[in-house]
Amino acid sequence: MAKMTLEELRKLRDSKKKELNKRDVADKNIQIIVGMGTCGIAAGAKETLDAFLQELDEKKLTEKVMVTQTGCMGLCYVEPTVEVIMPDMPDVIYGKVDAEVARKIVRKHIQGKALVNDHIYDRPAADIVE
Ligand code: FES
Repeated sequence: MAKMTLEELRKLRDSKKKELNKRDVADKNIQIIVGMGTCGIAAGAKETLDAFLQELDEKKLTEKVMVTQTGCMGLCYVEPTVEVIMPDMPDVIYGKVDAEVARKIVRKHIQGKALVNDHIYDRPAADIVE
């Protein structure tokens, strides 16, 4: 392995710090939880997670939104699955969330406060309103 210069190490540290900040929980009241069980990963959950992180970064939302991962949510048939929890919105579990849908969830659900109806696979509360 090639040796790195001090400057290269600093750049690497700064870029990793930025990535870690996106996963930090302080002062974040919106949660995106990506199912990363075996079934989720096989269905592309890693690409989904990456798409969320990238879209949140582009929309400058990383200060408000925490992205975490969990195991299987018991919905193998609609992986990748993602739970979104945010104030003034019902908790929702979305299914079949590929990278494109992940970006749509950021724009429509997180920014627009509207549900992405065609990807809702679990409604934890009966009070879901559009
Ligand atoms: S492993 Fe996916 S439903 Fe259990």
